[in-house]
Amino acid sequence: MTAENVVPVITIDGPGGSGKGTITALLAAELNWHLLDSGALYRIVAAQALARDLALDDGPALAALAKSLDIAFNADRVTVDGEDLTLTIRAEPVSVAASNVAAIPAVRAAILDLQRAMQKTPGLVADGRDMGTVVFPGAPLKIYLDASAEVRAERRYIQLKNKGLSANVRALLASIQERDERDKRRAVSPLKPAVDAVLIDSTELSIIEVLDAVHSEAIRRQLVGGA
Ligand code: C5P
Repeated sequence: MTAENVVPVITIDGPGGSGKGTITALLAAELNWHLLDSGALYRIVAAQALARDLALDDGPALAALAKSLDIAFNADRVTVDGEDLTLTIRAEPVSVAASNVAAIPAVRAAILDLQRAMQKTPGLVADGRDMGTVVFPGAPLKIYLDASAEVRAERRYIQLKNKGLSANVRALLASIQERDERDKRRAVSPLKPAVDAVLIDSTELSIIEVLDAVHSEAIRRQLVGGA
């Protein structure tokens, strides 16, 4: 029996700014399950590639880089080779570079095992683009969270401001639309709902409403106990 049959995984996929990160963090805390922020992995590879002046289309070099990094998640901090990159990986140039490196099959392959190794008892909530389609295809609950591009840009703006990073809503909207296109059109692991995903549009929903919807679905599927 594989870990996937034993340890439950809830996958939460969707475009940037759909609320996946927030919902994943709240749900993992509520259930006391592990959390996988797969986007952070692509962001780390991108940030390190930028820092080392690597070409963002050099598959072999980027895959080697991805395999060489010692990545540690601790609460809400991430360190890479001992260096705290929590804020660095959230900057907008890194978002754009992450979506470029994420389109390279060798990079995706390089971090596949790392992601699957996060499936540990009592359970995992995994946030990304291909969690339900590729990384955890047997997950018992798959959510695809979406929202209008305008609302997502607005949310990203608030998120960046709260982190003390500079931002501009119009530029963010353009960047989000460009990233959506690239993420949806790429040949490998494109952003799309798994055939068995529950679709939730969060454009007009509060965080609590989305969280309740996901939690109810987890209870209905007997992944967690009822209140
Ligand atoms: O979710 P986040 O915005 O942090 O992800 C950054 C980028 O990493 C995305 O734009 C996407 O291109 C890529 N990504 C991916 N597959 C994942 C998670 C993120 O391709 N599972």
